Amino acid sequence: MIILQLVGGIVMGKLPEDASYASAVFTIHQSNGLTILALSLFRLVWRLTHKPPPLPEGTKAWDRLFARATQAIFYVLMIAVPLAGWLMVSGHEGSVNFFFLFPVPHLPAVGSHELWEEAHELLAFGFIGLIPLHIAGALKHRYVDRDGVLARMLPGRREAAPTH
Ligand code: HEM
Repeated sequence: MIILQLVGGIVMGKLPEDASYASAVFTIHQSNGLTILALSLFRLVWRLTHKPPPLPEGTKAWDRLFARATQAIFYVLMIAVPLAGWLMVSGHEGSVNFFFLFPVPHLPAVGSHELWEEAHELLAFGFIGLIPLHIAGALKHRYVDRDGVLARMLPGRREAAPTH
């Protein structure tokens, strides 16, 4: 969802402003973004209340630190990017029409539209840096360390967890 949202956000900026479908595209971007925010908050609560399986024994200290840091930054972005988007439209535009179903209330207007627009864009580009790093890390576990960490990230593959 996040990757689609990044691609969609960039494409959206290139649409002709008078295109008849532009407002529908914005509505879908905003609705999808708010869904990501809700799922991320749920996931954060889940992560804080459920201990993840330990990393394989023998994982180096720098590797652990690197994994923790990228994961923490992911959580920050997963919440901050959609929140900045919501704050951006709150002081400026009509309510978000959630998947054309119902209006979502505005957040209290803090800061300017320009501030949140800039924050939304910069933080979204943080994802573009972090996602390839995350994929590279997963592939390193699979092909260099061969420790089963990639397999346990995939749905329904818990039994394939570390063999050390
Ligand atoms: C994880 C969620 C989200 C991601 C990854 C994301 C990503 C992006 C990206 C990459 C852009 C293009 C930035 C640029 O090139 O200027 C963009 C633009 C935009 N986003 Fe999001 N977005 C998310 C959530 C939201 C939400 C929740 C809202 C509003 C409720 C929102 C509203 C907007 C608007 C209005 C623009 C156009 C800004 C402009 O006019 O320059 N986004 N988004």
